[in-house]
Amino acid sequence: MEKLIYLDSGATTFPKPEEVYVAMDKFFRCCGVNPGRSGYDLCMVAGSMVEETRKLLTKFLNGTDPNRLIFASNATDALNLAIFGLLKEGDHAITSNIDHNSVLRPLFHLYKYGGVEVDLVPFDSQGFVDPEEFARRFKKNTKLVAINHCSNVIGTVQPVQEIGELCRERGITLLVDAAQSAGKIPINMAKMNIDVVAFTGHKSLMGPMGIGGLYVREGVEIRHTRAGGTGVRSAVRTHLDEYPYRLEYGTPNLPGIAGLNAGVKWVLKEGMSTIHGRETKLLGMLRDGLREIDGVTLYCQEDLANHIGVLAFNVEGLEAMDTGTMLDVDYSITCRTGLHCAPRVHKQLGTDKIHGTVRFGLGPFNTAEDIEAAINAVGKIARIRLKQKAC
Ligand SMILES: Cc1ncc(COP(=O)(O)O)c(C=O)c1O
Repeated sequence: MEKLIYLDSGATTFPKPEEVYVAMDKFFRCCGVNPGRSGYDLCMVAGSMVEETRKLLTKFLNGTDPNRLIFASNATDALNLAIFGLLKEGDHAITSNIDHNSVLRPLFHLYKYGGVEVDLVPFDSQGFVDPEEFARRFKKNTKLVAINHCSNVIGTVQPVQEIGELCRERGITLLVDAAQSAGKIPINMAKMNIDVVAFTGHKSLMGPMGIGGLYVREGVEIRHTRAGGTGVRSAVRTHLDEYPYRLEYGTPNLPGIAGLNAGVKWVLKEGMSTIHGRETKLLGMLRDGLREIDGVTLYCQEDLANHIGVLAFNVEGLEAMDTGTMLDVDYSITCRTGLHCAPRVHKQLGTDKIHGTVRFGLGPFNTAEDIEAAINAVGKIARIRLKQKAC
């Protein structure tokens, strides 16, 4: 089989560092028991691994209390816990056109069924939201601003700190979707004025699927919108109020937490700035190569200063899906095509009318050869298309 070139790290990173596979296998075989339910030794070992991972991630996000780091299934699950637990009937929330459906859909669900007003902020021609646009929409009943840290379509890093400053002045909760950014660029909850941050384990934190979570700043309370077993204080009739139990339900994904633990340690060992620096260099190569090709349109890639390694493009005259199929079948290059769960990005760019874009997502294991191969492949596809057009 031809060597597969994996350029779909925006969806999930692959492969994972060897340490992640080893940690999951070892943990599951040696102590894959239910922590917090009993006091025997294995249970204590499993529990310590969970607590160590809470501490690791709390430090990673510059939080202060590991108990306020809660585990959920993924970023979508974490964002649902936050959004449904922060808003109630009569509240107003603001999000943006850059956001992913895991923010937009819970908000629009509450708009449709829960009496919550929702406003959307557009992004500028380069793919950045203006903090003042949020401030302009603040009302007496504004309770939440929910914003994507890094776009999963065009890769732009949003000015979270400035948005946070404006929210703090008004006592509005700032929820940040860090699904794309966590593990790529630093997240400092205190410095960036973030109240609640949602992360996923399987992207740049280099862990497996099925694990993610939230960090909830002290002083911010999220109502529990589910209830069930926590393994502790079972005689209490309703779900526990204290963190982390407040937002955790049932048996946790232990192998997932073990893998995430190893993934975060790998990121720290490599160094986030090293990973991001390498990726930015490759992104520059990719952007420069693609923009030389006749018939290729790039979206919001003029200045790469505040970008992660995610790049959206189209080949003139081709549906994104067809370009993706050719890359896969003819060149063994993986990518993602379509709307990428972020329909408003495409609506604003006008790419909704042509069924979205092709997206390359770079990861820590990509090389300059991968990028050269991608540029060559897109070049050949575009030239064939131009020839067909000329006939
Ligand atoms: C910006 C953004 N938010 C949220 C999510 C959802 O993450 P998960 O699939 O882990 O729930 C994604 C995943 O693609 C994303 O890119």
